[in-house]
Amino acid sequence: MKNIAVFASGRGSNFSAIVKAVKSGKLRARLSLLVCDNSKAAVLGKARKNKVRIALVKREDFSSKQEFEDGIIKNLRENKVDLIVLAGFMRILSREFVRAYSGRIINIHPALLPSFKGAHAIKDAFEYGVKVTGVTVHFVDEKTDHGPIILQDSVRIMPKDTLMALENKIHKIEHRLYPQAIGLFIKGRLKVKGRKVEILKS
Ligand code: GAR
Repeated sequence: MKNIAVFASGRGSNFSAIVKAVKSGKLRARLSLLVCDNSKAAVLGKARKNKVRIALVKREDFSSKQEFEDGIIKNLRENKVDLIVLAGFMRILSREFVRAYSGRIINIHPALLPSFKGAHAIKDAFEYGVKVTGVTVHFVDEKTDHGPIILQDSVRIMPKDTLMALENKIHKIEHRLYPQAIGLFIKGRLKVKGRKVEILKS
């Protein structure tokens, strides 16, 4: 069985959706590790409750970004992690880190990439006035919010929608799409050719 590590810095609703998919047997993987960089994050309580091992790796405890990332890699190696799942991890990983786990890091982004990159995608899309936005799961490469796209799903923004209503719609999609994308990876059904990801038949 493959070992996955979720990286998260905040609330952890995607972490919970992944835990649920693993527990129900929908996702045949071992959730070996939560990597978190924020000691106040709500995701920590969720990991404790579900008995998921935690690596709390705070940037301020290391003298450089490289040492911080080496600390993370040590934890990943100790837990024989096969796949890194970024779920609201609010730090940019270095080129060296991405290379060390090339093809084995995926990210979820709350917009239809390449639109609305960055840390405030839902708000940015809402304020821009687009009528359709969505969610993207993609492989991580050396540029932020850029790598080959695995899955996307869209949502309409209705005139009556508030920002909060849109956030709720986006998160609902995320909680379905992320376990689905992780499942495809684990089954070896993702074939990357340049920018394109082919989904192989099961
Ligand atoms: C999610 O909406 C995820 O798409 C977003 O952070 C949120 C984390 O929520 N990630 C980004 O914006 C990355 N650019 P969660 O902690 O409840 O899973």
